Amino acid sequence: MIVGVPKEIKAEENRVAVVPAGTEALVAAGHEVLVETLAGEGSGFPDDLYTAVGASVISSAEDVWGRADMIVKVKEPIEPEYPRMRDDQVLFTYFHFAADERLTQEVIDRKVTAIAYETVELATGELPLLTPMSEVAGRMAVQEGAKYLERNQGGYGILLGGVPGVLPAEIVILGGGVVGTQAAIIAAGFGAHVTILDVSLPRLRYLAEVMPANVDTLYSNRHTILEQIARADVLVGAVLVTGGKAPKLVREDDLKLMKDGSVIVDVAVDQGGCVESARPTTHNNPTYTVHGVIHYCVANMPGAVPRTSTLALTNATFPYLMRLANQGWEAACRADRPLSLGVNAVGGRVTYEAVADAFGLDYTPLSEVLPG
Ligand SMILES: NC(=O)c1ccc[n+]([C@@H]2O[C@H](COP(=O)([O-])OP(=O)(O)OC[C@H]3O[C@@H](n4cnc5c(N)ncnc54)[C@H](O)[C@@H]3O)[C@@H](O)[C@H]2O)c1
Repeated sequence: MIVGVPKEIKAEENRVAVVPAGTEALVAAGHEVLVETLAGEGSGFPDDLYTAVGASVISSAEDVWGRADMIVKVKEPIEPEYPRMRDDQVLFTYFHFAADERLTQEVIDRKVTAIAYETVELATGELPLLTPMSEVAGRMAVQEGAKYLERNQGGYGILLGGVPGVLPAEIVILGGGVVGTQAAIIAAGFGAHVTILDVSLPRLRYLAEVMPANVDTLYSNRHTILEQIARADVLVGAVLVTGGKAPKLVREDDLKLMKDGSVIVDVAVDQGGCVESARPTTHNNPTYTVHGVIHYCVANMPGAVPRTSTLALTNATFPYLMRLANQGWEAACRADRPLSLGVNAVGGRVTYEAVADAFGLDYTPLSEVLPG
């Protein structure tokens, strides 16, 4: 199969869908890999690393799209890429269709086979191709919180871990899922005192068992949230209600309880934010202040660390990519239920119910498109 890896063209996107190690494995399995020039540059993988493992580095995006049987990307296709999509082509990338009606219609009209990272789902309900980005964002949340606590950034001026004889910072985390857990690990490692709030008792039990002694768990309700935000130096928003908008757990008025110069990192801002005063910001202008509390609300946090994010993402996507290349998408999806759940559209038909529902489109179960 010919696998195409275009350079991402969305603003602030420096990740690449396949790294040289993956390219080498694809070539060894007999596939041809076309990499657009500079595709890996932003993640620290220059063209010569791809050439060295047998890829063809190609200067034109049109050629990569035009020749490949399967295109692997990171971000959803954007306008200049729409005309490049073909009906006999498989596209394996993040799509987030429900947030983009135009893209959904383009994929339908162009009869693309669209396999979406974000809906590949394990039997446990885990979304294995979203998890790595939550891991990056969770770990980064504490790094950003620590930075904006510094006085010259407008912060309260407290060191996360304190020093002997001086108490450490208080880190309060709303939501103990992937983001919250990773944030807690890093904050605790720095020596901060961490409190994780969640509404899931099984999750709190698990966290209480595995976390170090400087991490406490607390059942999340209005009362405990208000009590904890008053103590917090850094508040990390990490809640998720699957498929829905984040619940507003901290109202704007509640900020008056918080210390001047404390920091909110609302990672959940991509789902609307769990803090009422959160609005999406960018890496170029990441913070603003409300009632003396610094808000960091970047909606694509992993974009700041493309080297780590690319490696984390491709570690997770590559096994699926290899199966798609080796077996073809039909056989690979027949053999792999989690992967088959990633198929959102085939031949002009929408095969993922939530996407069809989002825009009042007809839904065709994948089993009708892919018998057996
Ligand atoms: N900003 C970014 O760059 C970025 C990157 C990755 C993920 N995210 C977002 O971070 C958020 C968290 O993702 P995740 O992977 O950790 O989700 P997750 O499903 O693993 O965890 C969410 C947790 O929130 C808990 N929760 C739900 N309601 C709660 C409440 N009222 N109080 C306390 N806890 C509650 C759930 O029990 C669960 O444990 C999502 O919105 C995700 O889209 C943002």
